[in-house]
Amino acid sequence: MDKSISELVDEMTLEEKAGLCSGENFWLTKAVDRLGIPSIMMADGPHGLRKQEADPDHIALSESVPATCFPTAAALACSWDRDLVGRVGSLLGKECQALGVDIILGPGTNIKRSPLCGRNFEYFSEDPFLSSRMASSHVSGVQGEGVGTSLKHFAANNQEYRRLLTDTVIDERTLREIYLASFEPVVRNTKPWTVMCAYNKLNGEFCSEHSRLLSDILRDEWGFEGFVVSDWGAVNERVDALAAGLELEMPACRGDRDKLIVRAVQTGQLDEALLDRAVMRILRIVEKAVSNRKKGASFDSELHHKSARETAADCMVLLKNEDNILPLEDQKTLAVIGGFAAYPRFQGGGSSHVNPSILDIPLDEIRRTAEASGMTVLYEPGYPVDMIRDRYSNRKFESASDIPDRAMIEAACRAAEKADSAVVFAGLPEPYESEGYDRKHISIPPGHLELIRAVAEVQPQTVVVLSNGSPVEMPWLDGVKAVVEAYLGGQGFGGAVSDVLFGRVNPSGKLAETFPRRVQDNPSYLNFPGDRDRVEYREGIFVGYRYYDSAEVEPLFPFGYGLSYTDFSYDSLEADSGELTGEGELILTVKVRNTGEREGKETVQLYIRPVDSPVSRPLQELKGFEKIKLNPDEEGTLVFHLSKRDFAYYDTGRSDWYAPDGTYEICIGSSSRDIRLKRSVELKSLNREKSVYTRNSTVFELSLHPEGKKMLDIAGRKMEEERAISMDLLMTLFKDMPLRSFHMFAGDLINEEKLDSLLETLNKD
Ligand code: BGC
Repeated sequence: MDKSISELVDEMTLEEKAGLCSGENFWLTKAVDRLGIPSIMMADGPHGLRKQEADPDHIALSESVPATCFPTAAALACSWDRDLVGRVGSLLGKECQALGVDIILGPGTNIKRSPLCGRNFEYFSEDPFLSSRMASSHVSGVQGEGVGTSLKHFAANNQEYRRLLTDTVIDERTLREIYLASFEPVVRNTKPWTVMCAYNKLNGEFCSEHSRLLSDILRDEWGFEGFVVSDWGAVNERVDALAAGLELEMPACRGDRDKLIVRAVQTGQLDEALLDRAVMRILRIVEKAVSNRKKGASFDSELHHKSARETAADCMVLLKNEDNILPLEDQKTLAVIGGFAAYPRFQGGGSSHVNPSILDIPLDEIRRTAEASGMTVLYEPGYPVDMIRDRYSNRKFESASDIPDRAMIEAACRAAEKADSAVVFAGLPEPYESEGYDRKHISIPPGHLELIRAVAEVQPQTVVVLSNGSPVEMPWLDGVKAVVEAYLGGQGFGGAVSDVLFGRVNPSGKLAETFPRRVQDNPSYLNFPGDRDRVEYREGIFVGYRYYDSAEVEPLFPFGYGLSYTDFSYDSLEADSGELTGEGELILTVKVRNTGEREGKETVQLYIRPVDSPVSRPLQELKGFEKIKLNPDEEGTLVFHLSKRDFAYYDTGRSDWYAPDGTYEICIGSSSRDIRLKRSVELKSLNREKSVYTRNSTVFELSLHPEGKKMLDIAGRKMEEERAISMDLLMTLFKDMPLRSFHMFAGDLINEEKLDSLLETLNKD
C-alpha cells in the first residue's frame, strides 16, 4: 500500500470504512481499489489448510485444494513438544504462502471441559498451561513464515450444543485461572495477528459484543495489537460488536450490516472515531500480510507428508504394554483387524476438514514393513465397512456401524487364531464426534467393542490401536495386552502407527487430558451441556486432573500419562534457592536417566502444590514441562524457571493474581499420578501491598503483624496460665474469629476502646 494507514483512513468514505469491517465473501476481506487497498485471504485451520476454490462454506461441505493434514490438536498436545508443534506451524505457514492464504484460522485453544464436546479433537488440553504453550508454539511457527494466525474461539466455547446461543456462566476466578489462562500467554508472548471471538455468550453477553473481553482484557490488559474477527456468523448486533472491539465480521453480510454501521455513525449512535480505529487495526494487518507474501512460494508435499508422519508418531500415547508385547518382534504371522486399518480415521469433521495431499493406509504400511522381514499379514475388517463416498476428499471411508456383524467377527477371530498376535484398529467413526454437535456417551460403537472382546478371547497377544478425537471408555482393557492411543493423527497416521508397532519409533506421547473410567466421573458431568441456553460451570476451577487428583477419583488413565519402550529414572531435584522473594525467579534442575535399552524421549512434568492455602485450590497444578531425548544409560538435566505467577491464584477481591507467602511443594512427575521427586520452597514477602486491618480482620491476620503477634503471645501465655490452653489450641480455636469478637475471649487484653488504638497501630506504616 502506497499511503500510510492514517492517510488511507482519512481518504476513505464512510461507506468504504464500514465495508472494510465485513468480508467480501467467505474468505476474503474487501479491497478498496481506488485507494490501492488489497484484500487478504483467510482459510481454516488449524492442523491443515482448507482452502476452497469454489463453493465456499464454513463446515467443509464442499471440496478444498489438497494440503497436508497434520495431526489434530488433541494428538499434537500429546507430544508435549514445543519444537515439534512449532515445526508443524512453520510447515502450515509455508503451505499458506504457497497457496496464497494470508491468515490461517487457528489454533483453537479452548479448554476441554468435558470429554463429550464434539470438537475436542481440535483443542489441545484440559490444562491451560499445556494448552497455551502448545498454541504459542503453533502461532510462532506459522507467523515465523509471514502468515497470520487467528487464535480461537475467544472465549469459553467448550461445547458444540447450541453453540451460537448458549450463555456460558463462569465465576471470575475460574474464568481467569482456567479458560482465559489458555489464551493469555499466547496473546502476551506470541502476538497472534488476529483473535477469533466465540459464538457463545459469556456471563450474559455475546462474546462478539463483550467489551470487557474484547477490549479491557484482550487489548488493555494483555496488549493485543491485531484485529478481532468474528467466528463465522457469530455477530449478534453489528454496531454493538464494533463498539465493543470486534473489528471484522465474517463472512460477507451482503452489505446489510455495513449499512447499519453507516447509519449508526450518521445518527450519532456510533462515534466515527471508533470506526476509524477498527479500520486502522484491520489495515495494519492487511499491510503486514501483503508485505510478507512470498511470491512464487511452493512446498514439497512429499516432504511435508514425511513430516506429518514423523509428527504423528511422536504424538502417539502407549497406554498399556503388558509383557512388553510391543514392539512387535519375532512374529511369523500377524493378524491386522478392523476397518480403520484399511480406511483410517485420521481427522475430525467440520471446518477443520482437510483434503489430504497424500494418505498413508495403516494396513499397507504394516504389510510393507512386516513382509520385508518375512512376516505374513492376514487382514479382516471385523466390522461392517459401509463404503461411503467421503464428502470431503472423494475417497471412500467406513461409516459408523452400530450393529456387530457376527460373521465378520468370526472371520476376524479365525484370522487372529492363526496368527502370533493381532492388532485391532478401532475407535470412533466420523459420525460419532464432530464440530457442530456433542457426544452423549464415551463408548466406541458396539461393533468395535464386540470385535475387540472376541479377538482378545481367542488371541491372548492382542494390541488395540485407537483412532478417536476424545477419550473413550475401555471395558475391554483387561483382556488386551497393549493399547496405542493414536487420536486423530493426520494423513501420516498409517505410516506412523506402523513405525510405533514395529519399534522404528519409540512412543513418547503423554495424555494431555484425563481418561475417566466412566463419563459420569468427569466433574462437569451434571452440568453439561446445561439447561436450554445456559450452562453453568459449577465445577469451577476443578477441571480435569485438578478435580480427579483433588477428589482422589481414580481415572482410567491420568493426565500426563504415557509409556515408552524404555524406562527412565528420576534421579535428583535441585533448586537454586529454598525460597522465592519479590519478583525473582526460582530455578530448578532435574536429572533424568534412560535406564532401558532403547533410545527414548521423556516428558518431565512440574506440578505445584500449595501446602496451606487461604482459599480452596486444586491439589496441584502443572507449571512446567520439558521433553528430553536420551540414549540408553544417558543422563540429562532439565531446567525449570518459576516465578511468582506460577504460585498464584486469581484473587477476585484484588482483581489480580495473588501468590500468598508460605510453603509450596514442587512435585516432579512422569504423570499427575506418578510424582517421582518433591521438595518444598518458601514464598517470602512476595506481596508488597500492606494489609489494612479492620474490626473484621481475623486473629490469624493479626498474627501476621509483628505487633499483633506480640499481643497474641501475651494473650496466649495468659490463657495458658489461667485456663491451661496452649498457643496452638488458641490459634486453632480462634484463628478465623474477627477481632471485634475476639476481645470478648481475650480478657482485658483488648476491649472496645483498646481495639481502636490497636487498629491504628496495625495500620501504621
Ligand atoms: C468455526 C471456526 C472456523 C470458521 C470458518 C466456524 O464454524 O467455528 O472455527 O474457523 O467456521 O470455517
